[in-house]
This record gives sequence, C-alpha cells and structure tokens, in this order.
Amino acid sequence: MCRPTYYSVSYEINPWMDPSVPVDNALAVAQWERLRDVHRDLGHTVEEIDPVPGLPDMVYAANGATVIDGIVYESWFRYPERAAEGPAYLRWFSDHGYVTAKARYVNEGEGDVLLAGSRVLAGHGFRTDVDAHAEMEVLWGREVVSLELVDPRFYHLDTALTVLRGGDGVGPGGVASDDEVDVAYLPAAFSPRSQEVLRTLYPDALLVSEEDAAVLGLNSVADGEHVVINPAATGYEGGLKERGYEVIGVDTSELLRGGGGAKCCTLVVRGEPRSA
Ligand code: ARG
Repeated sequence: MCRPTYYSVSYEINPWMDPSVPVDNALAVAQWERLRDVHRDLGHTVEEIDPVPGLPDMVYAANGATVIDGIVYESWFRYPERAAEGPAYLRWFSDHGYVTAKARYVNEGEGDVLLAGSRVLAGHGFRTDVDAHAEMEVLWGREVVSLELVDPRFYHLDTALTVLRGGDGVGPGGVASDDEVDVAYLPAAFSPRSQEVLRTLYPDALLVSEEDAAVLGLNSVADGEHVVINPAATGYEGGLKERGYEVIGVDTSELLRGGGGAKCCTLVVRGEPRSA
C-alpha cells in the first residue's frame, strides 16, 4: 500500500476525476489508514512503499505491478502523468528480493489483472494493451482470459469484477480447484463476447447492479471469507451476505474522487521473493 501523502486530483484521466474540486487530503489519509488497519485486523501483512512527491495517483497501489507466483510483472502506464510509478514500484520489489520482469506493452498492473484459481483474468479496452496479456501468459505459464471493458467509468478490470474466492490461486492459501472460484461482476461493463466468456466460466457468479458498480462497489478486496467494500454498495453487500461472506464496509469516498476504492489501494503480493 502507498500512503496518500501526495494524493490530489490534479489531472483528468478517467471520468471520476474533476481537478476543479479540491481534494481533502487529510480525509483521504484517514480513510486510507482505516483500510490499512482493516487489512491488518484480517491478518493480512501490509507493506508500505514510500510515496513520491508529484505522483498523486501512487496511492492506487494495485496499478504499481502484478505479482503472481513471486514473479513481478512491471507496470507500464497508459498516461504520462503516471509513468514514473512503474519504476518506483519495480524498485521496491527488486530491493525486497523479487524477480522482476520488464513489460514490452502498456499494462496497468493488478488494476487489469486478477488471479482466479489457476487462471489469470485480464482486462483491456481502456488501459492495458491486449498484447500484454500474451506476454503475461508466457511469464507465469498460466492461462490468461482476456476480457474487454466497454464502459469508461469501469476502465480497469478491478472496477467491474471482484474475485471473491480464489484470488490467491489454487493450492496452499488458495482454493482446491477452479470450481471453487467465486466472482462478482457487472455484466454491462463487458463486451457481449466477454460477457459470454464470463457466463461460461462462472455460471453461478454474483451479478451486481449498475447502481452498486457506480459507487465502485466491485472495487473490493476479498480473501475468500471477508470482503472489504464501499458501504454505499448496499445491494452488493446484501448479495455477499447471502453467500455467507463477512462484509466489512470501509468508506473510501475521498479516494473515489481519483477513480479508485479499496482494491485500487491494495496491491496483492502473491508468492515469496525468489532470488534471481
Ligand atoms: N486516477 C487513477 C487512474 O485513473 C485511478 C486508478 C485506480 N486504480 C485501479 N486499480 N482501478 O489511473
């Protein structure tokens, strides 16, 4: 996670951002601290990367890299405003002993990449280049399912879909098989073809309403038992409870002004560092 010390909305690269309305930085920091503390209470180890002045979106750690099987895939941002975040996150990982891989295509890290059991779900359409999906397939040796996003409000995969169970993969700490993966999503955020792919892979998925997705309810962090969500997504919350999940509401309203919620502020690190 990255403390929002320098967080502001000073440019506009998604429909949520309005630079004409000043951000309450102290409120953003307080909301972020609560999110960090909730992670700790859930037993998740939280590492903090130092924020860099001049990179107001660095708080959205999910975009900083993608880490699967202890192998770190570098992020390469679509917009120049965020370009320097990729090297900053990559340096953190190499300093902590991780094997890192350079990217040859634009990709915005875990914002567009979610692990679901043995598979990698990868978004494209607004930020990540579809060619990056092929690069990931080779890097991790896992099947990558490409999903096309079509609504500019849901410009990253993690704004349109939550992996509720199986986000740690198959095996120790994760699910026993792909059949146990559980996801929630907003169908209309995807192209008809990608909706078909999702229906086939996850016939029992929890379908979320436009209303709940429009407060970035799907930008949630789940560990198979608990789901950390925006409390404004009340319908989604009800659906999760019916499925037996423990729901923890964390208000991230000030971070929503940059276009992100709980998941955007969380980069999930999967696998131990392996020395190069
Ligand atoms: N302002 C940031 C951007 O538009 C928000 C990133 C949100 N991150 C995420 N994982 N969806 O790039």
